[in-house]
Amino acid sequence: MAAPADLEEQTPIHGEGVEPTTHWLDGLYAPVREELSAPSLEVIGNLPSSLCGTYLRNGPNPLFTPISRYHIFDGDGMVHGVSFDGEGGASYRNRWVRSRGLAAEQAARKSVYGGLSEFIIPPAEIASEYGMMKNTANTNVVSHAGKILALMEACPPIELAANLATVGEYSFGGKLEGAMTAHPKFDPRTGEMIFFGYGPFPPYLRVHSTDAAGNLTWSTEVELLGPVMMHDFIVTDSRVIIFDLPAVFDVPAMLQGGNGIRWEPERGTRIGVLERGAPGDAVQWIEVDPFWVFHFLNAHDEGDSVIATGCRAPKLNVDFSENPSLEIIEPMLHRWTIDLANGTVSDEPLADEAGDFPRINDNYAGLAHRYGYVGHTRRWGSDEVEFDGVTKHDLSTGRTETHVYGPDHVCGEAVFAVDPDRATDEDGGWLLNFVTNRSTKQSRLVVLDAATLETAAEVVLPQRVPFGFHGNFVASGR
Ligand SMILES: [Fe+2]
Repeated sequence: MAAPADLEEQTPIHGEGVEPTTHWLDGLYAPVREELSAPSLEVIGNLPSSLCGTYLRNGPNPLFTPISRYHIFDGDGMVHGVSFDGEGGASYRNRWVRSRGLAAEQAARKSVYGGLSEFIIPPAEIASEYGMMKNTANTNVVSHAGKILALMEACPPIELAANLATVGEYSFGGKLEGAMTAHPKFDPRTGEMIFFGYGPFPPYLRVHSTDAAGNLTWSTEVELLGPVMMHDFIVTDSRVIIFDLPAVFDVPAMLQGGNGIRWEPERGTRIGVLERGAPGDAVQWIEVDPFWVFHFLNAHDEGDSVIATGCRAPKLNVDFSENPSLEIIEPMLHRWTIDLANGTVSDEPLADEAGDFPRINDNYAGLAHRYGYVGHTRRWGSDEVEFDGVTKHDLSTGRTETHVYGPDHVCGEAVFAVDPDRATDEDGGWLLNFVTNRSTKQSRLVVLDAATLETAAEVVLPQRVPFGFHGNFVASGR
């Protein structure tokens, strides 16, 4: 597979700093101001020689002080990358995703776009040149078919070069209509990338697939009851599973600067199953009781059934309104058994502690698997969460084991990097995570052995990495 190419270095951005108008712009959430390139980092312990490639992680890092109510989902995307040379060395670089919207704000030297919880349409001359909303591309960063794509679910992908320079919005050769989820799935057998795109206007949902070379080969519309927020989905060997959950868009309210997403369980909740490659109207819907999921762990086929796992909450646990609810809504790992022959779904909890950011060894995506790695939380508040570790779930025995990075440390999502020397073992690999000491504000990239959860090595980073969202490991040569 072709490796992503470097671009000429882009002139570094030096931010002037952002006023901490909310807790999401303060402390460990505060955006960093500099784009750095640090070629040789201090390593504590010994980096494994077979860990060779780059860990990329995306997250919100606004360049300018927001002009409207700020939600953590709103910030400009910044990708932090740590590269391992396979000889014990590591380097770091971080770059803003240079979206068209960010270019508009750089030209204006201030924010001109509002956010999710207080949408502001920019002046007409800016909207016509740079777009009605900013494609922050701040949620995930993936590598497929020689391209690195920064993703945010309301917009198309933004392509990055290997050195994290921004190439620009990517449309699959002009074939992609609408947005692309930040959570595409990758078939480890065929190399296909399967994803969906949703939006507040019809068609509310499209499902797509590319071949291993990145050519868009399947696009189909799937009819929904109305416009809903849909953050993630799951894919098996043969099927796509869609969760039509009642987090409903209210576009008129959004355009008036109000709460644009409402939890409406009376509207109905459905799970849709569609054969990969089939037309969207062939979807089989099964009605279920309402729940909310941000992130799924995995799914696989078992004959006429699909076994799916994910972090289920009783309702949407994010509130975009002016006065957010103080209700604490915690997700926990669940398993759904979707019986397609009988049109029924059963649901069982697999954990008794709150957790999210679930990941697997991606070589088992869509297939039967044994292990799941879920972010462990120290505290789940009404509108924020503090991750402090990772819990390894053995789904065959029900046994769990947790690694907490330290009493004064917070972390993000643990990403599984396969160890090529242990590739036949499902847990033969490492868990990569940015971990920050709350007192010193120092960040490290911590490498855990995914089999034992013991620390293999730590890489000391040249600046704090703010709390962010998702990332992936791009092995060298891929
Ligand atoms: Fe996500």
